[in-house]
Amino acid sequence: MAQALELAEERGAQLKQQNIVIRTYDLWKTYEMGDQIINAVSGVDIEIHRGEYVAIMGPSGSGKSTLMNLIGCLDTPTRGEYYINGRLVSEMTDDELARIRNKEIGFVFQTFNLLPRATSLHNVELPLIYSGTPAAERIARAKRALQQVDLEKRMNHKPNELSGGQRQRVAIARALVNDPSILLADEPTGNLDTATGNEIMALFERLYRQGNTIILVTHEADIARHAHRIIHVRDGKIEMDERVEH
Ligand SMILES: Nc1ncnc2c1ncn2[C@@H]1O[C@H](COP(=O)(O)OP(=O)(O)OP(=O)(O)O)[C@@H](O)[C@H]1O
Ligand SMILES: [Mg+2]
Repeated sequence: MAQALELAEERGAQLKQQNIVIRTYDLWKTYEMGDQIINAVSGVDIEIHRGEYVAIMGPSGSGKSTLMNLIGCLDTPTRGEYYINGRLVSEMTDDELARIRNKEIGFVFQTFNLLPRATSLHNVELPLIYSGTPAAERIARAKRALQQVDLEKRMNHKPNELSGGQRQRVAIARALVNDPSILLADEPTGNLDTATGNEIMALFERLYRQGNTIILVTHEADIARHAHRIIHVRDGKIEMDERVEH
C-alpha cells in the first residue's frame, strides 16, 4: 500500500513536470443493469497538456458525458487511474475533491445552469462565495470575468433578460472566475442557433489563445473542428486522436 502511494507520487510528479493536466490509465466505467453489462467507458488512456484545446467527439451513447463526468471528478471510475494536475484522484479526500471541482475545473453545460432569479454578476460570483472569497474581491473578479466574455454591460440582467448566447457567456464567465486549470464544456452550443454557436466557439478560441486548457464534448463534427485536437470516441473507446490544423 505504502509502495503504491509512493509510485503514485512519483508518477504524479513526472506528469506535473511535463505539464500534463489530465492523464488517465486504462479508465473504465461499467454499469450493471440486471444481467446486462454496459461499458460506458472502456479502457481509456488520455493525456492532455496544459494549454491544449481538445474536442471529445462521438455519436450519441458513445460515452462522452460519462468520460467528461470522470474527468470533471463528478463521478468515480469502476477501474483504472486518473491524475489531475499530478494528483491521483482516487487518493483524494471528499474535501479535496470538492475543492478541485470548485477551483480547478470550470464547467459549462448545454443548458447553461444559471440561477434564474440572480443577476449575471451574482451568478458569476457564486463559485467565489463557495470558496469563501471576501465580498469586495468577489465582485471585482466577477466583473473581470464578465469583461472577458464582453458582458460587463449586462451585469445586472437576470437570465430571462438575456439572449441564449449571452446566457452561455455568463455561464462561461462563471466557469472562468476561479481561474481554473481546465474548462470542461459538454455540448455548450447544443441549445444555440448556428450563428450564436459560432460566437461561443470564437470565444473559446480567444480563451485558448489566452492560455486556457479547454475540453469540449460534442457529437457535431462542425463544432469539434474548432478545437485543435479531436479525440473520437465510439462504444466507450478512443477510436482516433487527431490534430487539427487551422
Ligand atoms: N447511469 C447509467 N446507468 C446505466 N447506463 C448508463 C448510465 N449512464 C450512461 N449509461 C449508458 O452508457 C452509455 C454512454 O452514455 P453517455 O451519456 O456517456 O453517452 P454520450 O456519448 O454522452 O451520448 P449523448 O451524445 O447522447 O449525450 C450509453 O449506452 C448509456 O445508455
Ligand atoms: Mg452526453
